[in-house]
Amino acid sequence: MSTARAVAPGRVNLIGEHTDYNRGLCLPFAIPLATTATVTAREDRRLRVTSDSGEPWEGTLGEKPTGWASYVAGVLWALTESGWDVPGLDIALTSTIPLGGGLSSSAALECSVAVAVGGLLGEPLDRRAVAEACRRAETEYVGAPTGGVDQLASMLATPGHGVLIDFADPTAPVATNVPLDLAAAGLTILVTDTGVRHALADGDGGYAQRRAEAEAGMPNRVRHVRTENERVRATVAAVEAGDWTGVGTLLTASHVSLRDDYEVSVRELDLTVEAALEAGALGARMTGGGFGGCAISLVHEGRAGVVRNDIDAAYAAAGLPRPVHHQVVPAEGARSIT
Ligand code: GLA
Repeated sequence: MSTARAVAPGRVNLIGEHTDYNRGLCLPFAIPLATTATVTAREDRRLRVTSDSGEPWEGTLGEKPTGWASYVAGVLWALTESGWDVPGLDIALTSTIPLGGGLSSSAALECSVAVAVGGLLGEPLDRRAVAEACRRAETEYVGAPTGGVDQLASMLATPGHGVLIDFADPTAPVATNVPLDLAAAGLTILVTDTGVRHALADGDGGYAQRRAEAEAGMPNRVRHVRTENERVRATVAAVEAGDWTGVGTLLTASHVSLRDDYEVSVRELDLTVEAALEAGALGARMTGGGFGGCAISLVHEGRAGVVRNDIDAAYAAAGLPRPVHHQVVPAEGARSIT
């Protein structure tokens, strides 16, 4: 029985939030937190999926599961639609990405499964096509109205680089890898997981509502998209110029816009940003869809501990449970492993 294995990373979006489905610009990078999928071909048409962070699911290929397993079935559906001859499979998933925490645990799951199945079938790895199949799995099969940045980030990222994605033509986004050598600049990104959870597929509907409001032309939503696109361009220019103070200022401005114009922040995210800035971060913002999840702070490596402690102290003073932190730099995209 043949087996294949692949790993796909989560992502942090450095800047360019809620712009992907608004024909705009994003600048994500892959993080070292990742999901690993091990797939084994079966003789029958059964699908059996297990995960280290959810209930197992078993059914027949083509049957639609509920819950997290629908992301797996959605990927197999999309790959079959794109012409792959997907057999019955046993799929085992393990992940170091917090689920529903704004670090693209869903995209990592989708991409790890797709790359592993491709390896099993001996399909050449077309990264763009895999990202598109995974986006279709999420939007058309699972029904989460997301915009595609997460899957492209997981598939196209390279170490030490951000992925600048232009969604001007949503059917053919243009992606460019831009150097983002934080380590060489003595900088790091501190990711703070607020512990507040969102659900893009069902949940409180905030994400779908914002998407509809932006599409309907609501002025403050549209203003966020316009100014955020300008900030992404300015960030790329500042990174190229080595102006990290400028990058930090743009990150913080992005947060203010997401908080006041797009209205997708929550108290815990605002508190994290304020505490990080007071502790000496160059800039800070929520990352991902919002309504919970994670904030990022751009900090000097030597300052990360202080920023982390001060954020914890701010949570304690506000009577909130202690957040979880991860220190990250741009990592590698999805790949087959042995
Ligand atoms: C979620 C979605 C993405 C994107 C971000 C907001 O992560 O999956 O497509 O819209 O929110 O930038």
